[in-house]
Amino acid sequence: MSQIDDVRSKTDIVEVVSTSGVNLRKAGRSFVGFCPFHPNSRTPAFTVYPDSQSFYCFGCHASGTAFDYVMRKLGLDFKDALEYLAARAGIRLEPKGDQQRQEDARRTRLLEINAAAAKYFNYVLLSLSRGEPGRKYVAKRELSPETVESFQIGYSLDEWTHLFAYLTARKGYTPEDVVAAGLVIDHETRGPYDRFRGRLIFPIRDAKGQVVGFGGRALGDGQPKYLNTPETLLFKKGELLYGLDLAHDAIRNEDRTVVVEGYVDVITAHQHGFRNVVAPLGTAITRGHVALLKRLSHNVYMALDADAAGQKATLKGLSALREGAESGGDGHLVATAQGVVRLESDVSLRIITMPEGRDPDEVIKATPDLWRQLVADAVPVMEFYIGAYTAGLNLGNPQDQRAALDKLLPLLAELDGSQQRVYVARIEQVIGIKAELILDLLRGKRWEAGGGRQGAGGRRQGGGGRGQEAGGRRQGAGGGGQQPPPDDVPHPADVARPPTPGPRPPVSRGVEDYLLSQALRHSLVIPAAVEALLEQSLEKFPTVREMLGGGLEDLLEDPANQQIWATFTALPIEGRPVGEPALAAWASWLEEPLRDRFLAILASDRRYPEDFRYRQVAEDYARNLRIQQAIRLHHMLLERIIASIESDPEPNLSAEQRQITALHQFISAAKTPHRTSAFLDLRDSLGKM
Ligand code: UTP
Ligand code: MN
Repeated sequence: MSQIDDVRSKTDIVEVVSTSGVNLRKAGRSFVGFCPFHPNSRTPAFTVYPDSQSFYCFGCHASGTAFDYVMRKLGLDFKDALEYLAARAGIRLEPKGDQQRQEDARRTRLLEINAAAAKYFNYVLLSLSRGEPGRKYVAKRELSPETVESFQIGYSLDEWTHLFAYLTARKGYTPEDVVAAGLVIDHETRGPYDRFRGRLIFPIRDAKGQVVGFGGRALGDGQPKYLNTPETLLFKKGELLYGLDLAHDAIRNEDRTVVVEGYVDVITAHQHGFRNVVAPLGTAITRGHVALLKRLSHNVYMALDADAAGQKATLKGLSALREGAESGGDGHLVATAQGVVRLESDVSLRIITMPEGRDPDEVIKATPDLWRQLVADAVPVMEFYIGAYTAGLNLGNPQDQRAALDKLLPLLAELDGSQQRVYVARIEQVIGIKAELILDLLRGKRWEAGGGRQGAGGRRQGGGGRGQEAGGRRQGAGGGGQQPPPDDVPHPADVARPPTPGPRPPVSRGVEDYLLSQALRHSLVIPAAVEALLEQSLEKFPTVREMLGGGLEDLLEDPANQQIWATFTALPIEGRPVGEPALAAWASWLEEPLRDRFLAILASDRRYPEDFRYRQVAEDYARNLRIQQAIRLHHMLLERIIASIESDPEPNLSAEQRQITALHQFISAAKTPHRTSAFLDLRDSLGKM
């Protein structure tokens, strides 16, 4: 048995969830509570299934195993989650190789040294008479004693070897390790000396709260203003965010992170109760940062100076974010520790524009309400770019129009379909170039810029609105005009990876799989049709809409299906594969378990040839799934009420009762009225499944 399996088999997800602070109530065979991953206090939509050792939230659709839960709740990567669960289960993970062990030992020593140094700096600041300059500076920056304590702020004496002597002679660490920790510089001729001298010290902690490095601010105009620990075994700037250890919970609760530029901005924000604030360490935001933040919330706000330099820095940070979204190549896919694909681009980024020449530290100190307002006024990043790239231009002048559009096109190309439509319209409005022309240019861009065959497939499908009607006849006359070569003639690159290598998992055909397959095959028609259908049925049931959602993605309950669909829809519309060969080629971007699943789904629905009825069938399947969903949720709520009556003779149930009533009405409405003949057909075919 692998270590992972061992840990898995000795872990009880119910226990893991309960001890993480989520109150679970037994409801039938499962447990329910308030979801820790989305703000909610009314409906306990978070369900834990002991039988399958999994969880699912009916509200935000978070789902997975105990590993997924721990990773997300505690913001750990897979390795750390494994260690955490192993420790809980009393399992000692197998010893690592010699080299690994040595590195671990060294890492542990460096952590100890850093912890000792942080304590030392803090002591110097608070208790030594020679710490007075530090104390003066702290007072000047209006940092409270509580803040000094929680951020463990310190001061380094203006001397050459005070810390070095303390760490070696007093604490017994070797000079070599003290140098490796970045605290001491070993000069060739003059010997070792302290890196930080006469500076206010900000210990930099990782997400777990371990000190991995330091930032030191000159008290006066000394240069550089900030001095940081160099890259060490522990200190990797691109993977650290200052304040994250203290911001964790607030980020999760508020479901957003605010990223500022400086240490003091973070500290002041926290001191004033804005605890979801973090900062990179004088660098642009990197992919590593995004990965850290995404585990806590998908909403990232960046506060940036209004001045030109600030905007430059912003744009730098943003390009890094975008690169993060591209690391899997064309498909925007990134492998995670579970070996599953995820989208980096599922971070929603907003920009907070600071008043000219003021940083968050100053604004928050002077007028906390203004800061609140600025955060509330943050604009989506695309909106920010439109502003930035049109500033100072004369949009009555075609050259200026074109210049702005050229800068915006590559950004547009990265958006997913629905966002793209929104912003094409928006750019038309702001710049004054016709939406159709923008779309043409956009497709041209894809065509040259790579994406190779995906671009080609997209080109014929593109066209947004118009394509929707043409969907059913996609193989035929399509959008009219010049047609690129049909995608049924595969490019060699497309077929380089055969679609079905090796043994396939047993195919469990279900209604959901079939619907997904049809949605992938007819990606312009089916999702739109299903959405229209769901929305129509929900029209009179806002409560049910809140619970069940109105999109095709809301019908997918299987996590693998959800991921496949999310991955697919993250592609820009014109980049989505069309036709079976292109779909199969696209599958090669997916990681192992998903790929097999996807190919199995694709291979097994040839039962329904692409005849004119596919849309009707898909709609009926969607209707059917929706009814099943509603019935399940209804049942769950009833169980929950029964359970709560058992534990509390006079439970306060009104919200749940309202939901149950709404569901009940929704179900009867969906079941009874005029059944179409297709719906009857469907019942026959369901019987045979
Ligand atoms: P700023 O120069 O904007 O400083 O640097 P600040 O945060 O407003 O600092 P105060 O308020 O004057 O104390 C922003 C961030 O850039 C990094 C630091 O992380 C700093 O917090 N930085 C800046 C450096 O690493 N080195 C420098 O020399 C300057
Ligand atoms: Mn400042």
